[in-house]
Amino acid sequence: MMHWGLAKGAVFAALLQLVRAVTVTDIQGASWLSPLKGQTVHNLSGIVTAKSTSGFWIQGEPVADVRVSNGLSIFTSSKTILASVNVGDNITLSGVASEFRSSSSPNNLFITELQSPANITVLSSNNTVIPLVLGPSGTRSPPTQKLSARDDAAGADGWLAVPNNQSLVEVVDATLQPDVYGMDFWSSLEGQLVTVKSPVAIDFENDFGEFWVYGDWEVTGKNSRGGLSITFGPDGAPDANPETVIVGSPLDGTDNPSVSLGKTFEDITGVIVYQFGFYYILPLTAPVVASTPSSVIPPATIKPTDDECTLVIGDYNVENMAPTSSHMSTVANHIANFLNTPDIMFVQEIQDNSGATDNGVVIANLTLTNLVTAVANAGNASSTYSFLEIAPENDTDGGQPGGNIRQAYLFNSTKFALVPGSPAGGALDATEPIVGTDGKVTLTFNPGRIDPTNAAWNASRKPLVAAWETPSGARFFTVNLHLTAKLDGSSTQGDARPPVNGGVDQRIAQVETVAAFVQDLLALDPDANVIVGGDCNEYVQTRAVFAPFAGLLTELDEASGVPDVERYTYLFDQNSQQLDHLFVSSAIVERGTGVEHVHVNNWAASVDARASDHDPSVAEVKIC
Ligand SMILES: *[C@@H]1O[C@H](CO)[C@@H](O)[C@H](O)[C@H]1NC(C)=O
Ligand SMILES: *[C@@H]1O[C@H](CO)[C@@H](O)[C@H](O)[C@H]1NC(C)=O
Ligand SMILES: *[C@@H]1O[C@H](CO)[C@@H](O)[C@H](O)[C@H]1NC(C)=O
Ligand SMILES: *[C@@H]1O[C@H](CO)[C@@H](O)[C@H](O)[C@H]1NC(C)=O
Ligand SMILES: *[C@@H]1O[C@H](CO)[C@@H](O)[C@H](O)[C@H]1NC(C)=O
Ligand SMILES: *[C@@H]1O[C@H](CO)[C@@H](O)[C@H](O)[C@H]1NC(C)=O
Ligand SMILES: *[C@@H]1O[C@H](CO)[C@@H](O)[C@H](O)[C@H]1NC(C)=O
Ligand SMILES: *[C@@H]1O[C@H](CO)[C@@H](O)[C@H](O)[C@H]1NC(C)=O
Ligand SMILES: *[C@@H]1O[C@H](CO)[C@@H](O)[C@H](O)[C@H]1NC(C)=O
Ligand SMILES: *[C@@H]1O[C@H](CO)[C@@H](O)[C@H](O)[C@H]1NC(C)=O
Repeated sequence: MMHWGLAKGAVFAALLQLVRAVTVTDIQGASWLSPLKGQTVHNLSGIVTAKSTSGFWIQGEPVADVRVSNGLSIFTSSKTILASVNVGDNITLSGVASEFRSSSSPNNLFITELQSPANITVLSSNNTVIPLVLGPSGTRSPPTQKLSARDDAAGADGWLAVPNNQSLVEVVDATLQPDVYGMDFWSSLEGQLVTVKSPVAIDFENDFGEFWVYGDWEVTGKNSRGGLSITFGPDGAPDANPETVIVGSPLDGTDNPSVSLGKTFEDITGVIVYQFGFYYILPLTAPVVASTPSSVIPPATIKPTDDECTLVIGDYNVENMAPTSSHMSTVANHIANFLNTPDIMFVQEIQDNSGATDNGVVIANLTLTNLVTAVANAGNASSTYSFLEIAPENDTDGGQPGGNIRQAYLFNSTKFALVPGSPAGGALDATEPIVGTDGKVTLTFNPGRIDPTNAAWNASRKPLVAAWETPSGARFFTVNLHLTAKLDGSSTQGDARPPVNGGVDQRIAQVETVAAFVQDLLALDPDANVIVGGDCNEYVQTRAVFAPFAGLLTELDEASGVPDVERYTYLFDQNSQQLDHLFVSSAIVERGTGVEHVHVNNWAASVDARASDHDPSVAEVKIC
């Protein structure tokens, strides 16, 4: 195959050069890999559009076929060669048509480039360089739902289908379908100079100062802040927001501005490249901020009341909270003044009393005492929350080494208390629902953990379960989750399709154990009030993960009719996404529910102004 491919390329190149000089579009071709890969080409002509420290880009004559880029990267680290060309020069050159990716990044796509450039002749200078304008005022707009035909091939869940990595883009080497698939669209512009008009930022900048945008073109999933949420598309498949591109480091050495969700910019002109697993636009110079969204973040409208049947629940991943964490007072202010001090808080990532020091300390009562004091201070409250936790075994639940993160509840003990009569469980005790001596359902350990020795919970946080009762005897059950993280995944625009969703198999196994517990509980009392929630490290559009809850629990966003695009608690790369969820049993759904995601962190003015990477949520449910 390999030899035939090379031979075909060689024959094609030789025949072509008998007739006319090879063009940029001949090298790019209409598929992922260059039809001239490995061939030396001569008298290639183009206008220099941009320069970097590792080469430059040229633009040839376009062809009518929109699959074919008329831009090309010329790779060279020779200072002499770089000094010999200027933007606007019309040049001819020779070199080797190549497909490159770093051997250390096997999940990246290949970049088509000309290597070993030689015989550079400048025919004329100061030619006008005209970028391709993207969007309605230009001719080309990105598709808005799908990334790759390879994802469609994996099933109805597309880019979120499980199992992952069922095929590789570069091995299949199909021709591009830029009007349907986002990766194909951006690939069809690889090496081209383009203008993105009126860009909008959809995340904070990353550690390298790079940030994601969409331009003045059709988008889907747009939320009220201007971000793009993960939703389901019109065909029922998850929408991957392919109509976005990441803005890399400016080519002139200037620095990108600080960015936050919903900031807008003046038009950006730059070159489309593929690097570090994504399609980038490398701007010619630093983008200029055009507008900044309001820094006033509205608090939740849901508030606790004196009604015993109405329960206000908060949920917050407080990101590695230790007794002396500098972000504790900000988190406390969020709980008191933006979440309105809910009746019960589900918190995740509470560290032990010694924080991230790996010294065998596992109890977190100092961390929790400090947090409830800070919440009371932030709200000028005369009473403080009570709290409960189950300390994990030293260093067995994952997270920051030595921190022993765990879930905990902060709760208002004047409103309800643990159902009495069962011992509190330890780290390895599996609690189970049973019918108590009073004929009502309770737990064998209260609080307790679900199936903590099951392999599904290896190196991960076990669910914290509790059975509660109000003074007049209404019961409810809570399960506080922190499922395993999305570590070691592959890029959403990488070679592996569907992309590798790190930890997905373990999350499925974890949800299965939780579902089995809930099923046992509902078997004893189909009308039980059950609330399962926390940081699930997964969006519901990854349907395989939450499938075990079907028929048992309903997500509160769904039960409460929250608009799809406003369902997000986290920003990652191009997506506003919901990692934090609350699920409830049908008895609760039937009485009516409400939920709000309070964007105290993801609407912050800068990435450093956040107290946590997650936004908290507040919900209202009726338990009688
Ligand atoms: C390049 O083009 C020039 C003029 O068109 C021609 O004389 C020359 O032979 C070409 N060189 C190669 C290597 O094809
Ligand atoms: C660059 O020069 C070549 C050779 O003279 C010519 O065919 C081509 O049209 C020129 N390109 C532009 C954009 O002027
Ligand atoms: C460069 O040009 C010279 C003279 O025309 C030719 O002999 C040589 O093959 C060319 N080199 C390449 C790499 O095309
Ligand atoms: C190109 O333009 C620059 C600046 O306007 C000028 O200095 C230079 O002489 C021009 N070069 C040519 C070849 O016309
Ligand atoms: C995807 O699977 C291929 C084998 O088909 C393997 O070589 C590659 O490493 C996998 N990619 C990822 C990101 O796991
Ligand atoms: C637990 O704590 C001790 C300190 O007592 C620490 O040195 C050890 O490495 C920790 N981890 C495990 C897995 O025991
Ligand atoms: C934490 O618990 C330990 C052991 O029960 C107790 O000695 C200590 O006083 C508690 N600390 C706080 C801050 O409650
Ligand atoms: C708490 O009291 C301080 C000082 O009296 C006041 O400035 C602040 O607004 C109060 N905060 C709340 C949430 O009531
Ligand atoms: C607990 O609820 C009571 C009654 O509604 C209220 O007065 C008190 O402030 C609440 N405590 C906390 C810590 O919110
Ligand atoms: C548990 O997880 C750790 C860390 O990821 C891993 O090294 C170990 O092999 C796992 N053990 C089992 C039984 O899966």
